[in-house]
Amino acid sequence: MKYAFPKEFWWGSASSAPQTEGETLSHGKSATVWDHWYSQQPTRFHNDVGPQDTSTFYKNWREDIALLKQLNHNTFRTSISWARLIPNGRGEVNQEAVTFYNQVIDEMLAQGVQPFINLFHFDMPMAMQEIGGWENRDVVQAYAKYADTCFELFGDRVKHWFTFNEPVVPVEGGYLYDFHYPNVVDFRRAATVAYHTMLAHSLAVKAYRARNPGGEIGIILNLTPSYPRSQNPADLKAANIADLMFNRSFLDPALRGEYPQELVDLLKKHDQLPACQPGDKALLQQGVVDLLGINYYQPRRIQCRDSMVNPESPFMPEWFFDNYVMPGRKMNPHRGWEIYEQGIYDILTNLRENYGNPRCFISENGMGVEHELRFEKDGRIDDDYRIEFVSGHLKWLHRALQEGSGCLGYHMWTFIDCWSWMNAYKNRYGFIQLDLETQKRTVKKSGEWFAAVSENNGFD
Ligand code: BG6
Repeated sequence: MKYAFPKEFWWGSASSAPQTEGETLSHGKSATVWDHWYSQQPTRFHNDVGPQDTSTFYKNWREDIALLKQLNHNTFRTSISWARLIPNGRGEVNQEAVTFYNQVIDEMLAQGVQPFINLFHFDMPMAMQEIGGWENRDVVQAYAKYADTCFELFGDRVKHWFTFNEPVVPVEGGYLYDFHYPNVVDFRRAATVAYHTMLAHSLAVKAYRARNPGGEIGIILNLTPSYPRSQNPADLKAANIADLMFNRSFLDPALRGEYPQELVDLLKKHDQLPACQPGDKALLQQGVVDLLGINYYQPRRIQCRDSMVNPESPFMPEWFFDNYVMPGRKMNPHRGWEIYEQGIYDILTNLRENYGNPRCFISENGMGVEHELRFEKDGRIDDDYRIEFVSGHLKWLHRALQEGSGCLGYHMWTFIDCWSWMNAYKNRYGFIQLDLETQKRTVKKSGEWFAAVSENNGFD
């Protein structure tokens, strides 16, 4: 076989509780920021479709786990909903939720699918947001308690845990660029949210290790390699700052237990550093992960700014760089994102050369397609474009492995077409097509292809 992968390579896909479970305000679950925001401003969501319109994993979990097995997944990532397990964010545990997650975990194990469980996928309980969300250190403590409750309840069977999915996204969306609640635009508040998230992460890692349940704990980061337009010093500097702000602001604490000094100096110079407390530094050092999940969709092309910054304008990352559209780049025409398969190799090589080659895996990579139903033939979606996308990335992943990368697996986003925040169902990503009206599931051509890749542990 031309592209053979190491024995026991993890083949699977990823999803999340808020994007699949449904039953958003029932069975004891309280509102998250998404339920709340949708109730206030439904028109900000694509076609006004909100978080209640899902594949209803809460009810269909048994059928969906059977499909996971059919697709030869040996691993699968989903998340626990904090607002379902502990409806007030802190305090009483919802026993119905405990039963639900126990059933899901047990069924996955019974079907030979290792559960990878993430604790936070953008879904802050509204009760916690009302007291300030990540800006409030009490919420950091409440999250740590929630995490420890999960380890206590499910840690005997779940051996791969993740504290956060893409922690930079709620920072960007909620505090810089207005695509998540609470729709604030303020860099210093964004920096505080980012910092407190990593403190919460470290507390959860510490709690997990204190229990010593014989598994591993990590974090899932979306890494967007920053490529400069040219080798001119000004472009290189701009790309470096984008890398510091969007990648290394989470990657360095997760793998090295500290922030890059360059980033600290930059924020200090512009009076944007979040408030620190004694003990924070030591806590961050305890947050170094056992396992890193890497979400990779697209690169970031950067050039130096071609106009001067108005010093009166509010401080933003874009003070330091412009995004650059590279001529001739390959695009996903449906999502408007660049397709750059080599990015996966560059990320893994950077980790190997500069971060001690950590245990890691590709935790998301995938292709969103608008109006995908138009590719349906005889009741099935023939998504050759997705097969090309995934195999193109896997080839570069294979090359990184041959050069010694510590990458252990590949998870596609996502298992079944899911609700995706403000985009709702605009871009479909699944191996399985979902008919929202009837709830009918149909495996796409890519799903069948992936099942064969997993079975053969590679492809030609
Ligand atoms: C990932 C997130 O970044 O992108 C998912 O972890 C999300 O939650 C996915 O659904 C796709 O996003 P979009 O915006 O293309 O629908």
